[in-house]
Amino acid sequence: MSKETKDYSKYFNGSYKILSEDENAKKIRIPGRDVQIISEPSYKQEKQRGKEETQIIYEQAIPEEMKDFGRIGGQKYYHIQTYGCQMNEHDTETMAGMFEEMGFIRVEDRTKADVILFNTCAIRENAEDKVFGELGHMKTLKLEKPDLILGVCGCMSQEESVVNRILQKHAHVDIIFGTHNIHRLPNLLKEAYYSKEMVVEVWSKEGDIIENLPKKREGMKAWVNIMYGCDKFCTYCIVPYTRGKERSRLPQDVIAEVRELARQGYMELTLLGQNVNAYGKDLEDMDYGFGDLLDEIRSIGIPRVRFTTSHPRDFDDRLIEVLAKRGNLVEHIHLPVQSGNTEILKRMSRKYSREHYLELVRKIKAAIPDVVLTTDIIVGFPGETEEQFQDTLSLVEEVKYDFAFSFIYSPRAGTPAAEMEDNVPMAVKKERLQRLNDLLNRYSKEGNEALRGEIVEVLVEGESKNNPDVLAGRTRTNKLIHFTGDKALTGQLVYVRVLEPQTWVLKGELVETPMKTVAHG
Ligand code: SAH
Ligand code: SF4
Ligand code: F3S
Repeated sequence: MSKETKDYSKYFNGSYKILSEDENAKKIRIPGRDVQIISEPSYKQEKQRGKEETQIIYEQAIPEEMKDFGRIGGQKYYHIQTYGCQMNEHDTETMAGMFEEMGFIRVEDRTKADVILFNTCAIRENAEDKVFGELGHMKTLKLEKPDLILGVCGCMSQEESVVNRILQKHAHVDIIFGTHNIHRLPNLLKEAYYSKEMVVEVWSKEGDIIENLPKKREGMKAWVNIMYGCDKFCTYCIVPYTRGKERSRLPQDVIAEVRELARQGYMELTLLGQNVNAYGKDLEDMDYGFGDLLDEIRSIGIPRVRFTTSHPRDFDDRLIEVLAKRGNLVEHIHLPVQSGNTEILKRMSRKYSREHYLELVRKIKAAIPDVVLTTDIIVGFPGETEEQFQDTLSLVEEVKYDFAFSFIYSPRAGTPAAEMEDNVPMAVKKERLQRLNDLLNRYSKEGNEALRGEIVEVLVEGESKNNPDVLAGRTRTNKLIHFTGDKALTGQLVYVRVLEPQTWVLKGELVETPMKTVAHG
């Protein structure tokens, strides 16, 4: 890793000083704060692929001297605020696992915390705005509690512009680290705590795989990473820069983790990757893909197995064949389309056409007739015409998704699409989003209506958020269902008859006694 650090003097109008510089870190003084820059993000390095070999590190995470850190001088508490996708949620579980191994206790009320981490998401501008707003609020808390350690990690930290902005406007932040060095949390915490300096360590590398980090999972559902990073470089997307290259965990490491989760009694797994269908492509000397991995996991005793996200381009026939075997592999596929127009798809660099996508949907529906398809759609991509947008509407009409996440395109610094000319006014983008959502809602309602009178298998999640007299659960296809029943059914699989399907929720009645009980380890 290069130890060359950037010149930040231009941001500080003379009130900037280099205190020291050696191969380990550069120390600078900015208004109100000394900063230790161990390494910092670089857009240039984040674009590189194929130069570094993936290392698999079977690491013992917590350094001996940090094992009691959370209890030294009285009990310490941590709070992690998570933004973004399941990948980030799961990274939070890893960091929580590390905090607990250092003797910390989790606290919901962040005014009571000794360490607060913001695990951030960079996918759209509004995600970033939220974090900067929250960081601003933290200034007061930090004044009241000078010993509070405030950290920013996750995808935003990987952006050069974000680190610059924190240095200029949020010098009360104590630690900045990225997605590649989560395992360094204990060391960075120690450094910030004793030095009282801001510590910046963001690695702009292609990425390694760190095994054996502790994880604090909650509830009856578990996330399992099968791969990290993304090599697709869709032109609008920041993820390949913030998460590094596509790299698969070894099948034996994934299977061992899944078996352990089964032993502990988890009821549902979600296998995670930005593009799970590319699983195994980077494993040398192995002819082993995502279909093969699912086929093995199928025989492990976990009632439900999901996965996300599936890129249409790498969805092969082997995978369809394995999914059609069902069992614990659920009949739900999240298959982001982004646009229904081939020209826009080309400019997004999605590497499939409208026809290819529709053909894939046809094959999936032929193999799994009751499959539920969901998707992601972007409207207002630079230069999108009304006709091109209508192709998206007609594709939605053809596929009839049960649910979709829809977004207005948000330019991301450093991505190719941010350089494209965008002549679509914001008012038009908003109007397109509204029209799209109206159509999507119609099919969500229709999809639910088709279940009227049917009996569905439900994993009971507990009391409904808004009504403690009602239980909430999920069908195999991940639909939310409410029904009356004993709270003790939480964590169990039951049968429910659908009586009243609505757009966002099904309402039903319990029809049988539980089929399975959870034995949590
Ligand atoms: N790896 C997944 C997507 C992860 S990001 C896949 O390829 O399917 C989740 C969704 O955010 C994307 O599917 C896309 O619809 C949306 N998204 C990503 N970048 C965006 C941007 N710059 N503006 C608006 N939406 C974006
Ligand atoms: Fe982003 Fe495309 Fe990778 Fe998904 S596949 S994470 S949209 S670059
Ligand atoms: Fe956001 Fe990073 Fe996930 S940008 S969507 S948290 S991979």
